Amino acid sequence: MRLSCRIRSPMADTKPRVFSGIQPTGRKTLGNYSGGFRQYVQTQEAGDGFFCIVDLHSITVDYDPAELRRSTLDLAALLFATGLDADRSTVFCQSHVTAHAEAAWLLAAVTSYGQLGRMTQFKEKAEGKEFISAGLFTYPVLMAGDILLYQTDLVPIGDDQRQHLELARDVAERFNYRFGEMFRVPGGQFPEIGGRIMDLQEPTNKMSTTMSTEQGAVYIADPPDVVRKKFKTAVTDSEREIRYAPNEKPGVSNLLEIMSVATGESIEALEQRFTGAGYGDLKDAVGESVVA
Ligand code: TYM
Repeated sequence: MRLSCRIRSPMADTKPRVFSGIQPTGRKTLGNYSGGFRQYVQTQEAGDGFFCIVDLHSITVDYDPAELRRSTLDLAALLFATGLDADRSTVFCQSHVTAHAEAAWLLAAVTSYGQLGRMTQFKEKAEGKEFISAGLFTYPVLMAGDILLYQTDLVPIGDDQRQHLELARDVAERFNYRFGEMFRVPGGQFPEIGGRIMDLQEPTNKMSTTMSTEQGAVYIADPPDVVRKKFKTAVTDSEREIRYAPNEKPGVSNLLEIMSVATGESIEALEQRFTGAGYGDLKDAVGESVVA
């Protein structure tokens, strides 16, 4: 893994500074592909990219150190396999740069306790747990540090990270207000389609490494036949019409979004293509497009 802390050169100033992070724990899903990997490669073309394997974030819940080291390397392999290029982007491991942990402490002093308590991801991850670490609570401050350390312009992420990015922006603004202009206030880049891929079995919930069942999540490393099977058994609804209406028809809409992500075709074009077709046809076609 190449590890470097580049000083911003005047040349680099013409390109937006891009930063994103991804946790090494858990099997990566189609959701991670849509909101994460796919966008990393897109933004690599346009920007001066830093892509970080955020192992310090992963130790806020129960973990096995040896397993974490292995999964960090696995994730690095996946980042390169999905198109990150070490000659164009800096791909690195968070714990190798001690400034991340230092920034988290310094920025905690300008972070609102109340705002941290409103983070939906904290509430979801803490629910039902016997032991909730303080690190899980302050996790978004570490994330703010990741982003702000690199004077980031653009953060490519999925919808579930919106609230965390908002907190990072607030922290930057509060710091700048109190101590003078120090940090760039970062913006987010969210996919227009596929910013929140839903669980195939419970399409009102996000497809997630930790919360989804085996059948509800499609993993990037799933073999083709497993992918096809998961789509065949995806939950839809009792109507027959293939149309995009996320609130009324979450299952069918999710399938259309996934197919749009996989093929690059618009949702409207897909709706037209499947006019009069059955749900079985749609599920088969989505499965094939994801396999391809
Ligand atoms: P993580 O590791 O959970 O997820 C990595 C990326 O995948 C996106 N994602 C999804 N996108 C669409 N649909 C889904 N179902 C789905 N599930 C996950 C996430 O939005 C994310 O972009 N806190 C971050 C990691 C982080 C970070 C950062 C991100 C730490 N520091 C600094 C950006 C900048 C996280 O846990 O992502």
